[in-house]
Amino acid sequence: MTTLVTGIGELATLDGTLDGADHAEGLGLLHDAAVVVDDAGEVRWVGPASAAPAADRRRDVCGRAVVPAFVDSHTHLVFAGDRAGEFAARMSGTAYDGGGISTTVTATREASDEELRALLRARVSEMRSQGTNVLEIKSGYGLSVDGEARALRLAREVTDEVTFLGGHVVPRELASRRDDYVDLVIGPMLEVAREHARWIDVFCEPHSAHAFTGDEARTILEAGRAAGLGLRVHGNQLGPGPGVRLGVELGAASVDHCSHLTAADVDALAGARDTTVATLLPGVEFSTRSPYPDARALADAGVCLALATDCNPGTCYSSSMPFVIALAVREMGLTPAEALRAATKGAATSLRRSDIGTIRVGARPGLTTLDAPSHVHLAYRPGVPLARLLDLTEPASGCDG
Ligand code: NIG
Ligand code: FE
Repeated sequence: MTTLVTGIGELATLDGTLDGADHAEGLGLLHDAAVVVDDAGEVRWVGPASAAPAADRRRDVCGRAVVPAFVDSHTHLVFAGDRAGEFAARMSGTAYDGGGISTTVTATREASDEELRALLRARVSEMRSQGTNVLEIKSGYGLSVDGEARALRLAREVTDEVTFLGGHVVPRELASRRDDYVDLVIGPMLEVAREHARWIDVFCEPHSAHAFTGDEARTILEAGRAAGLGLRVHGNQLGPGPGVRLGVELGAASVDHCSHLTAADVDALAGARDTTVATLLPGVEFSTRSPYPDARALADAGVCLALATDCNPGTCYSSSMPFVIALAVREMGLTPAEALRAATKGAATSLRRSDIGTIRVGARPGLTTLDAPSHVHLAYRPGVPLARLLDLTEPASGCDG
């Protein structure tokens, strides 16, 4: 069965080759547009509403804007408990150093599979209700062979984009035996993780006693690569460090955070723009009250940018891509078009996916409607629930979206 989605006031296709579209800001914009989608979510046709072909069903979005569903390419959704107390302390001046991660490790280890699954699924539906379709999920709150395997297995139930983050922090019980923990990560943990995960990530951060040095991160990433996993890095979050350049050198798909960059880091990312995406997570700076990354310098240097939530109980307990877009525009100086591109096509690129993040024939991005006439409203109306993933299985009403 196919559905004609029509009455689209502004359609941001993100397809740079679409005839008749406005490509001035790289969004491939059409006005008064329509899209035909099949039941598997595959786009069959895109163009002006006046030229739309017939389809089995029809949905009228009554002048709303439609964008490709957001791709949230960095989340830590498999956890129990929360750290509201840590957040409150931070708002009174305590700095974030990754030490609170062990609180979540304890709560997560104590939770049953059913509890963790229910928490995870509730967070995924929270994301979908705000316009996200595909999301990446990391492990990293188990930090034992069984705990990491369980997190990866649960994550795999809800997404294909699963990341092994055994290298999140050194768990408390091995704090005085860091080398033994790294051996565990690259040995038995990786052996189990490779069955469930597509990616490996590491928190490379010399400014945190809990995270990993450049040498340790290299050992972990190289082992992951040898096991067939793609590479991602948490780098340069708390201060300048080796993470960004290590990620670029090893051909990582993404280096995430990038909050403290030297000119050499920016140059390295610009030179690697066809391989390595810089994923910015401004919800983290908001929630840890720290300086935002210099997104403008990265964009001007031609770096490929992604935006994601980093949803986790420590540094950003928000599941909202519209919130991240608003921060990227207001606080980091991206244009609304650049921010939308980073939250869709850029994030898809960071997952090495061309089948999501753009609305073009053959892709399966998911369609997100905005209760607004243009994508600019995502940043212009912060905190207002405008974005919603269009559910084609819902019965049509007068005005859908
Ligand atoms: O991306 N920096 C490391 N990991 C997460 C935070 C995890 C936590 O604090 O629970 C991040 O910010
Ligand atoms: Fe993270």
